[in-house]
Amino acid sequence: MNAEPELHILFTKKEIKATVGRLAAEISRDYRGKNPLLIGILKGSFLFLADLIRHLDFPLEVDFIRLSSYGKGKETLGKVKVVQGIKSSIQGREVLIIEDIVDTGLTTAFLIDYLRKKKPASLKLCTLTDKPSRRQVPVTIDYLGLTAPNKFLVGYGLDCDEKFRNLPEVYYLEEN
Ligand code: PRP
Repeated sequence: MNAEPELHILFTKKEIKATVGRLAAEISRDYRGKNPLLIGILKGSFLFLADLIRHLDFPLEVDFIRLSSYGKGKETLGKVKVVQGIKSSIQGREVLIIEDIVDTGLTTAFLIDYLRKKKPASLKLCTLTDKPSRRQVPVTIDYLGLTAPNKFLVGYGLDCDEKFRNLPEVYYLEEN
């Protein structure tokens, strides 16, 4: 029988808030006046995107794409699928992908390739967290929040079997 996993805090509310503010300042510096399209990858990025755009005081647009590569459980299935596509036209737009975590890199590498074919004027990636030790494919992160150790993370949008997305901090799970 599996025991309940233990949650250990990794990034506090204060650290997340400071990081979101810093990333918003960097994005404002580069995108003010360019009416960018921010594309959030569902589901994990919804909290981060919602907090981030409240700091961006210039015209922008938001869209979402739902991708999936993890089934139930903690290991990527390795094959990324578009579960729900974007509605906006991105040709000629300044596009910024908003992600909650880059782990193996398979999700973001897939999305960058998928969106590049639609000919945006520019295409960059912002991620709240990064686990570089897990990378399977190279990914360029243009706006990086917090670097995480090789642990399974939950909270602030991140889930384990759909649980824990609502936690305001980021935790790592440890099996007992
Ligand atoms: C998670 C996370 C990233 C992706 C990162 O999404 O939100 O999108 O995995 O992993 P990778 O770098 O190894 O590809 P998931 O597929 O679990 O869907 P979710 O966002 O709905 O939780």
